[in-house]
Amino acid sequence: MKNLHNALQLKQLLLFKQFGYRYTDITPSELEEECVELPYHIDDLKKLALGCHLCELSKNRHQVVFGEGDLNADLLFVGEGPGATEDSTGRPFVGRAGEMLTKMIENVLHIPRSEVYITNIIKCRPPNNRVPTESEALTCRPFLQRQIAVIKPRIIVTLGATAYRYLTNDNSPISKVRGAVIQGDGYMIIPTYHPSYLLRNPSAKKETLDDLLKVKTLL
Ligand code: URA
Repeated sequence: MKNLHNALQLKQLLLFKQFGYRYTDITPSELEEECVELPYHIDDLKKLALGCHLCELSKNRHQVVFGEGDLNADLLFVGEGPGATEDSTGRPFVGRAGEMLTKMIENVLHIPRSEVYITNIIKCRPPNNRVPTESEALTCRPFLQRQIAVIKPRIIVTLGATAYRYLTNDNSPISKVRGAVIQGDGYMIIPTYHPSYLLRNPSAKKETLDDLLKVKTLL
């Protein structure tokens, strides 16, 4: 069945290629994620991500930002996608938003940053830090899903609307869902604001503090 699916996809891709396409947009109905076979060993998974050219973002990236942290972490933070500093260093959340996230982890949760795992929905920087397209997010999502399967976190904190949307398939505004405890497949999801949003809207820090205190209690 899988072979048939792959053969049909390959046929379709070859057809696109004949028409001059170099990339294709994958829509949710076309992508059967259970058919995507990815390695369970994190080094192999990372190697695959570093060589990925499945979407247009691979054309302009400097580095693939796979994620970093403790592979046995109880807590996983998922952001949107790499910014300029992340693209040049290959590490997630190391720019201004990263400083804010590190403070949230270390000063509120009282956990060293190295003891959580941090990654993003997409692993390559979109031009001008635009929001990733649905196609980009869905193409990249299997990497995140495999990271979750390997790390097996107890709690996933999604940072901002994009991370929440693509982890839950729920389009609700982040202001409505933040602070909720959502049961995922073997883990809890707690959505909160993105650190970049907090830099622009410091008054939202109070709500994020409440969300993090909930995380601390649940841990
Ligand atoms: N913003 C994100 O969503 N992720 C990063 O890694 C950096 C900034």
